[in-house]
Amino acid sequence: MIISENISLLRYNTFQIDVAAKYFAEIKSENDFSELLREEKFRSQQKLILGGGSNILFTKSFDGIVVKNSFTGISIVKEDENCVWVRAAAGEVWHQFVLWCIEKNLAGLENLSLIPGQVGAAPMQNIGAYGVEIRDLFDELEAIEIATGEKVNFKNAECEFGYRESVFKNKFKNQFLISAVTFRLNKIPKFNVNYGDIKMTLDEMRVNDLTIKAVSDAVIKIRSSKLPDPKVLGNAGSFFKNPVISKEEFESFISKNPLANNYPQKDGTVKVPAGWLIEQCGWKGKVVGNTGSHKSQALVLVNYGGATGNEVYQLALDIQKSVQDKFGVTIQPEVNLV
Ligand code: FAD
Ligand code: EPU
Repeated sequence: MIISENISLLRYNTFQIDVAAKYFAEIKSENDFSELLREEKFRSQQKLILGGGSNILFTKSFDGIVVKNSFTGISIVKEDENCVWVRAAAGEVWHQFVLWCIEKNLAGLENLSLIPGQVGAAPMQNIGAYGVEIRDLFDELEAIEIATGEKVNFKNAECEFGYRESVFKNKFKNQFLISAVTFRLNKIPKFNVNYGDIKMTLDEMRVNDLTIKAVSDAVIKIRSSKLPDPKVLGNAGSFFKNPVISKEEFESFISKNPLANNYPQKDGTVKVPAGWLIEQCGWKGKVVGNTGSHKSQALVLVNYGGATGNEVYQLALDIQKSVQDKFGVTIQPEVNLV
């Protein structure tokens, strides 16, 4: 394990923010991590576990040790008549893992194709897209408690998954390194193609027989046309979560904004698209210094080159305030601020 000092994190975050880390270690095994935790020099240092850096905004240099997870390995753990349990190490690239499952004809994760980042970060915010969230397929995860080095397993209910939420983003923030995740996948697909443009895209692709691969290809096609590629334009996907408001708040909101799209939830609350709210406030496509709200997806804030984390954060605060002032609705960041 090589530990570097005072290195730039520019190539380790998709927002392409140029801040430094006091120390940086790439860990390839649990042993590497144990060794790091035992080192006297690092014991009192703040630790930040990093995956692909695609859901993080650095607003300042990190005065501690950044631990880049590079654990690898994908394996089938067990199977029964209907399901196959697949374990993936935290450092596997999420999309490569999804493709691995598709190649083995294992269904469930195809709607989550092309989400950037690594497997270990997926439970952090219960990643989701096109009507599927990982909690629908998640069996358990293995973690290491940073303070003690103890190994702990978390079953689905213990992760307290919610919309872009989990126990690891809240009560246990920065307390565990997730080392591997096991998913229960289906031998017989239960396709979920009702969301958004999936059906239309499958028609355009002239798909007659639905397959796991075809759904994945459709999702990839939609995502590639809608979301900016972080390799070309720094971003971290949706900067804010879609606000979920009470039935009463929604009734008042929709009477004033009858054209707003909305998604009623099972518990009576209603999800309102933050992208629409932000667009209505005039931010879509607006360039502010080196940053801005993307021209085809207002919810995605971008770095046009050389932006600081604080510049992006200030833009986010200004957007948040204008949505609050115009609609009385609070939008909260999805991205992890460091
Ligand atoms: P990082 O950004 O490295 O880390 C995110 C958080 O997790 C940090 O707090 C970090 O400390 C913590 N963390 C990372 N790895 C570990 C670990 N092994 N153990 C403990 N903590 C850890 N998200 C969606 O849900 N749906 C989408 O459709 C989606 N689309 C996106 C599109 C684009 C273009 C981009 C850039 C992002 C998108 N995202 C989406 C957000 C992002 O891809 C996910 O949140 C992803 O899971 C982040 O993975 P990562 O490895 O890059 O995490
Ligand atoms: N909209 C606008 N203007 C915009 C953007 C969106 O009016 O500039 C409207 C759309 O017309 C649509 C609604 O908002 O009616 C929803 O838009 P879209 O389908 O593009 O999805 P989203 O709510 O903006 C969410 C996730 C994405 C995920 C997609 C597909 C959140 C915060 N974002 O985006 O996840 O890929 O749905 O499922 O839930 C991420 O988390 O980083 C992310 C990209």
